Amino acid sequence: MTSSGDTFLPRVELTDDTSLLANEAAAGGATATANANIALVKYWGKADEDLIIPRTSSLSLTLEGLETTSSVCFREDSTQDRLFIDDVERHGKALNRVSALLDLVREQAGIQAGAVVMSRNTVPYEAGLASSSSAFAALALAASHAAGLRLNDTELSRLARRGSGSASRSVFGGLAVWHAGHDDPSSYAEAVDCPLDLAIVVVLISGKPKKISSREAMRRSVETSDLYDAWVRANPRDLERALRAVKAGDIKALGEVAQGNFLGMHATMMTAKPPVMYWMPGSVEALQAVDELRQDGLPAWATMDAGPNVKVLTTAADARRVEDELRLRLPRCAIHTHLAGPGVRLL
Ligand code: DP6
Repeated sequence: MTSSGDTFLPRVELTDDTSLLANEAAAGGATATANANIALVKYWGKADEDLIIPRTSSLSLTLEGLETTSSVCFREDSTQDRLFIDDVERHGKALNRVSALLDLVREQAGIQAGAVVMSRNTVPYEAGLASSSSAFAALALAASHAAGLRLNDTELSRLARRGSGSASRSVFGGLAVWHAGHDDPSSYAEAVDCPLDLAIVVVLISGKPKKISSREAMRRSVETSDLYDAWVRANPRDLERALRAVKAGDIKALGEVAQGNFLGMHATMMTAKPPVMYWMPGSVEALQAVDELRQDGLPAWATMDAGPNVKVLTTAADARRVEDELRLRLPRCAIHTHLAGPGVRLL
């Protein structure tokens, strides 16, 4: 079984300046690692944009191998935040989102200091492989710890949610449900017991950053798609069926819900005005290959997020065969299996 490791990432050498800051962030602050999660019942649309309260509850699997490690160090001598992702200093939107989360931490901890954040991914940045889920879960733990806060899992999940909704679920290993709630205290994720040994086989159609962010695409779906209300109405039924399938150890029932749910989410994007179409020809090829595998008797169901890549839900025991069969049918794609991974942790 393989995992993505850092296969997709170009390595950029640190300059002396950033290298110094990296050491400082790691030594003087806190470092945390979080794994990305893939939703089986999706979060798509916000009821409150500012607090990131979703319109629906969601269910996800945290995966090994798709990780972000972040070091955060608050520096009394500066009120400026600095952000390095994969050894490149970032400004603009990325820095603003990180600073907004750091502001919440500073407020809770009663400090004013600026922070240096060094973040490294084994997930292609912004490529629809859920890098924001691991990024903000790692940031929430590293930053809160560096600021002297000791949050419990629910508090951490709520904090991570403020950075990126899906990050609320990466606080937990394995399966996690994010209760939509209706305000800040009631919107958080928690772990779900799972008798199934699940795996996700990722078919990489493209590792390039997407042109339309998931945030923008979901906003457009909420505001302009005629199908959006139907998607929201279907959510309690999908979630209930998925949780029942998990409890019963029924991968077929879980796979069917997951596949129907992702198609519903993409239907809201495709019917947004203007439409958002993340699918590429390779995505359709991969979806068809997954159907063929199932017709041949293998447990394999597809899901996609805000990007062209196809993720295939299967069991750990069947993952190798699913991976091999997909490789035969999709020889040009990078294909990697990810088993269930751990929740966020301090290093
Ligand atoms: C398609 O969590 O990236 O992956 O809260 O705006 O940061 P923001 O959105 P984000 O959206 C994830 C959407 C999804 C489905 C899911 O993970 O549930």
